[in-house]
Amino acid sequence: MDRSPKHEYYSTKFQIQDETINSTIDSLPLLVDINDNYKTIRELGSGTYGRVLLAYNRDQQQRFALKVLPKITTKFRDFQREYNYSMLLTPHRSIISTFETCYQTHDSFILVQEYAPLGDLFESIPPQKGLPEKHAKIIMKQIASALEFMHDKSLIHRDVKPENVMIFDADFHKVKLIDFGMTRKCGSYVRRLIGSIPYSPPEVCDATTNDILVTSAMDIWAFGVLLFCTLTGNFPWEHAQESDTYYNEFLMWQKRKRRKLPSQWFRFNPRLMRLFKKMLDPLPENRCEIHEICKYYDDRWINENVRRRPSNEDEGVEEDYSSGDSTNGTDLEELTKMLKDYGFDHQSENQLIHHPSIDIPNANNQITSDNLQFVNKHENGSDLLSHHNHYKYPPSSSTTIFYNTTSTTKSLFSN
Ligand SMILES: Nc1ncnc2c1ncn2[C@@H]1O[C@H](COP(=O)(O)OP(=O)(O)OP(=O)(O)O)[C@@H](O)[C@H]1O
Ligand SMILES: [Mg+2]
Repeated sequence: MDRSPKHEYYSTKFQIQDETINSTIDSLPLLVDINDNYKTIRELGSGTYGRVLLAYNRDQQQRFALKVLPKITTKFRDFQREYNYSMLLTPHRSIISTFETCYQTHDSFILVQEYAPLGDLFESIPPQKGLPEKHAKIIMKQIASALEFMHDKSLIHRDVKPENVMIFDADFHKVKLIDFGMTRKCGSYVRRLIGSIPYSPPEVCDATTNDILVTSAMDIWAFGVLLFCTLTGNFPWEHAQESDTYYNEFLMWQKRKRRKLPSQWFRFNPRLMRLFKKMLDPLPENRCEIHEICKYYDDRWINENVRRRPSNEDEGVEEDYSSGDSTNGTDLEELTKMLKDYGFDHQSENQLIHHPSIDIPNANNQITSDNLQFVNKHENGSDLLSHHNHYKYPPSSSTTIFYNTTSTTKSLFSN
């Protein structure tokens, strides 16, 4: 099997120096009995369209990931499109390498890809806790670079989610975007899918006609949701529709119809909230572009004074705690800024004291981290988790992975 030279692109600005790798298929691939060349080791995963197998190539004495797409559900035209886009995108270092040789068996088309030994991001996110900011940033940088590479080629991924980010090392220094089955040209029209997933933007959730315009803003939205999931281990909402309480609360805050930030966003610093605002703008034309995300990498994203009790201590009920230490000058400034951003002015004591979920300031009316406990309290006694059990991750013994045939997300439902 041929392996074309792979050029490494990672910076946000890149140039294509060599596109010889851009091979396409025009006719049906080689008809083979896959067992002649490969020994199947195990199934790596499956999705809406196919199964991915870990297989050992006897000639090359190497392991590969084989994406097997059954002919019953995948037309040659669809396979051809996925192959062509996968090959075109292979030069980017944060996009999975697809090899030139592909196959068909009597019932399937097969793509050959490099094997990611550490599974996907979905499996790496601690449930209801999320990954540390440091790791989330490393992942975001790489996937943003991959998406920028795609968007520069007018290609829209359309299925950005943690299950489509593969991990190669424990520190997340090598992660790659996969799955170009939904990828389409920017400006084309696609049919409406039945149902939506937590990563679907409002223009897709609310679509009433069968002609949905493909835009880069779709990927930006999904990437914003992916960032939330990575940092928290929860989804921000189930559907970006007003009927979804969690989405509606965020939307009201976003539209300035509500001053107070919904509680599940409290832990994020104002700069990160500004980024979320731009990525999750309800109007696709107002959403930021992928290259703008890099402006936020140097900011602190998480307010360390707002922590969650680990979920195993409270059996899924979120509670808040803080270190109890008084904040230092820098923190105080930052926290005061944050209070303002959440709609509180620290000059106005009444506003602070009368807020139903804030602790009364100390004798000197100073804002300390104790006082700031309010920022992670739940205003209505409900917590995000209880509404998001469908999407708890990673798989636990009492849940099984269920592939919803009407959507493209891997969801976890109780048996
Ligand atoms: N190269 C790889 N190495 C290891 N595991 C992989 C690889 N490619 C895919 N997988 C696993 O298989 C799963 C399904 O792969 P993929 O997303 O390509 O299939 P799909 O049918 O197009 O999925 P979807 O439902 O997202 O459309 C991934 O979420 C991942 O867990
Ligand atoms: Mg997938």
